[in-house]
Amino acid sequence: MHVAELTQKADPLLIVLVGMPGSGKSTVGRQLSRRLGLPFFDSDHLIEQRLGCSIREFFERAGEAAFRDVEEQVLADLARGADAVVATGGGAVLREANRTALRAVGHVIYLRSTPEELYRRLRHDTQRPLLQVADPLAKLRELYAQRDPLYREAAHFHIETGRPSVPTLVNMVVMQLELAGALPPRP
Ligand code: S3P
Repeated sequence: MHVAELTQKADPLLIVLVGMPGSGKSTVGRQLSRRLGLPFFDSDHLIEQRLGCSIREFFERAGEAAFRDVEEQVLADLARGADAVVATGGGAVLREANRTALRAVGHVIYLRSTPEELYRRLRHDTQRPLLQVADPLAKLRELYAQRDPLYREAAHFHIETGRPSVPTLVNMVVMQLELAGALPPRP
């Protein structure tokens, strides 16, 4: 964690969750936003609104690179925006522009899970285009090996999601933000 970087940040208060698909970014993000009284945005939903179709459909029709272009635009818009908690898509860290933009403006938190845990949560998933393969566990291991260093590079701190419940994870995030001086003092 880079406390100095966090404490020097002025407004807006942007809290960004990164991590693999199935790591709990949307669930933790939504509860965190309620706890902090901030709006919540899920970048995948914003992308789908912009596309007018599901991410899976768009991937099939236009391919991954076109999807990453739209994702980059949506993330850049969020990074310019107001106070919020943002859950990003698992591949948001693949482009350096995204890592730099999010880290410069937001407090970026990596929710880390092992490929095996992710597989347990996602083995029946039909919506994530990258996981519609014969061996999703092998795919998750491959994505994790590629992305874990990128999540660490983008994030100010990381949290292990293996055992804790969602409310505990939310508490852990809040505690880290408080320790870093990123949240206003409680009344
Ligand atoms: C992706 C993860 C998805 C979504 C898209 C691509 C990825 O988001 O952005 O299917 O590259 O890992 P989640 O992490 O919310 O599943």
